[in-house]
Amino acid sequence: MTALLEVEDLRVAYGKIEAVKGISFKVDAGEVVTLIGTNGAGKTTTLRTLSGLLQPLGGQIKFDGKVLNKIPAHKIVALGLAHSPEGRHIFPRMTIEDNLRLGAFLRDDKDGIEKDIARAYDLFPILGERRKQAAGTLSGGEQQMLAMGRALMSRPKLLMLDEPSMGLSPIMMQKIMATIQELKSQGTTILLIEQNAQAALSLADHGHVMEVGKIVLSGTGQDLLHDESVRKAYLGED
Ligand SMILES: Nc1ncnc2c1ncn2[C@@H]1O[C@H](COP(=O)(O)OP(=O)(O)O)[C@@H](O)[C@H]1O
Ligand SMILES: [Mg+2]
Repeated sequence: MTALLEVEDLRVAYGKIEAVKGISFKVDAGEVVTLIGTNGAGKTTTLRTLSGLLQPLGGQIKFDGKVLNKIPAHKIVALGLAHSPEGRHIFPRMTIEDNLRLGAFLRDDKDGIEKDIARAYDLFPILGERRKQAAGTLSGGEQQMLAMGRALMSRPKLLMLDEPSMGLSPIMMQKIMATIQELKSQGTTILLIEQNAQAALSLADHGHVMEVGKIVLSGTGQDLLHDESVRKAYLGED
């Protein structure tokens, strides 16, 4: 089987500083793959490069059979790669529903868009209840739901989530993780970035541990969850 996403020897730099130093991994259709690692490891840089927001210095990104390296960000969305960014970046003064509609900006199938908005409200009922309210009135966890819902509005082949649990209460975090699990069971392919290694590895098919720009360890989610070095470094055990 050919992978949906294949990243080979990817290198990304900010000026002279190389933040991603030659990483390789793949994501098969239907899988949840996670990149974990401490702050500054290069996870966000990797996602932003996959989305076309940063240019790679070297290596290759292949998505759904196409090389993405020189393709601009909006065309990458159109190819089926959606990105829910770190920090969410919702539009606080716009309504929740208008924020969702923004995620469909490349689509012109009105009926399909309405169906997908209804689907987002099924997945996140709170968004439906408050659809006409300004998005800035939502709590952090609800804003995370909105960011995920917005990313899903492009009907992506691959959904990339950058630290969806960041800054959330344990209960809200569990809710977000349960939603990722639900999306997975519906067949959504997900690339999940997390500092919360326990939560991410528990639901991932495969995981990669990043440290200062490199992948230092790879395995199935379960393997990594039970790996002694991972437990020591990322799960707070000694
Ligand atoms: N806009 C930027 N300009 C310069 N350096 C950056 C920029 N963004 C991130 N970096 C650096 O790149 C490295 C990787 O950062 P990042 O990808 O955000 O890591 P992570 O998401 O794993 O926390 C860090 O050393 C960070 O300081
Ligand atoms: Mg980050």
